[in-house]
Amino acid sequence: MTTDPTQVFRPGLLQGQVALITGGGTGIGFGIAELLAELGAHVVLASRKPEHLDPSVQSLLRRGWKASAVPVDVRDVEAVRAMVATVKAEQGRIDLLVNNAAGNFYVPSAEMSPNAWRSVLEIDLFGTFFCTQAVFPVMKEQGGGRVVSTSMTLHYRGWPLMAHATAAKAGIDALTRTLAVEWAPHNILVNAIAPGPIPTEGVRKAFAPPANSGVADVFAETEKKLDAHARRTIPLGRMGTPRDIANMVAFLASPAGDWITGGIFVIDGGEWLAKSAGWGTS
Ligand code: HXC
Repeated sequence: MTTDPTQVFRPGLLQGQVALITGGGTGIGFGIAELLAELGAHVVLASRKPEHLDPSVQSLLRRGWKASAVPVDVRDVEAVRAMVATVKAEQGRIDLLVNNAAGNFYVPSAEMSPNAWRSVLEIDLFGTFFCTQAVFPVMKEQGGGRVVSTSMTLHYRGWPLMAHATAAKAGIDALTRTLAVEWAPHNILVNAIAPGPIPTEGVRKAFAPPANSGVADVFAETEKKLDAHARRTIPLGRMGTPRDIANMVAFLASPAGDWITGGIFVIDGGEWLAKSAGWGTS
C-alpha cells in the first residue's frame, strides 16, 4: 500500500509552535520547513546565505504559512546566540530546533588541511552544539522544547574520504544521547535523524568526488542511473526525498513524540544495513 506522504498529519497539528531550522533555506532543511509550516508552525529559516533565505521565506508566505528568516553562521557562537535572541524577541518562544546545517566534501585524509578539517567539524559538530546550547535557556524557561539534529549513517561502517564529516556526525550521535539524559528533567527532548541518500540539488553539486578516488560515489552514479541504482542498492527501491525526512521531524515535534528522547532515527530505505551485508553490490 502506498500512502500519499503529504497527507499523513492532521491539519493544524503544530499550530502555535515556533521551529528554528538551520540550513533551512534549501534541500532537506527547506523540506522540513515546508512540512512544519504546512502543519501550522511558524518556521524560522537560518542560513549563512541571504540569497537562499529570501526566496524560500517568500515561497512559504505565498502559500499562506508563517515564516521568517535570520542570518547565521553556526560556527560563530556569538552569531548563534544573537540568532536565538532575535527569534525569542520576535516569536516569544522556540519549541523546536532543527540542526540541519552541514558542510561536507570528499578529500583524502592524508591531504586534508587543518582548515578543511576544522571547517567541517565547526559547521557540523560545533554548530550543532552551539545552537543547541543557545536554545537551552529559552526552552527551560518555557517548560520544555525539542531538538532534532541531523546525523548520517556513513560513520557506522566508515566512509573513505570523509574523515571530517564521519567524525563530526559520530559526535552528534554522542551529543544527542548525552543531552537527552542531561536535559530530560527540563522536558527538553533531544533526538537525531540519519538520512540516507537524498539527491537534492545542493548535494549533487557538493559531492563531485575527486577524480580517480576509487570510491563508488552514490551521488555521482545517480546522475547517470538514479532509479536503477536505487533499485539495486536500496531495499525499499528508491532514493529518499526531503519529505521522507520531514515526516519524522513532524512526528517528533508532535505529541506522538512526547516520550521519545535520545533516539537516532535512520531514514534510508534500508540502505546502510543492506550495504553492510553486501546486498546489491554484485
Ligand atoms: C579539499 C576543501 C574542499 C574540497 C573546501 N576545502 N572544499 N579541501 N577538497 N572539495 C577546504 C578549503 O581548501 C579550506 O582549507 C577549508 O576547506 C575551508 O574552505 P572554505 O571554502 O574557506 O570554507 P567555507 O567557504 O566556509 O565553506 C565551507 C565548506 C563548504 C564546508 C568548505 O563546502 C560549504 O559551506 N558547504 C555547505 C554546503 C554543503 O556542503 N552541503 C552538503 C551537505 S549534505 P584551506 O586549508 O585551503 O584554507 C551532507 C550529506 C552528506 O552533508 C552525504 C555524503 C555522501
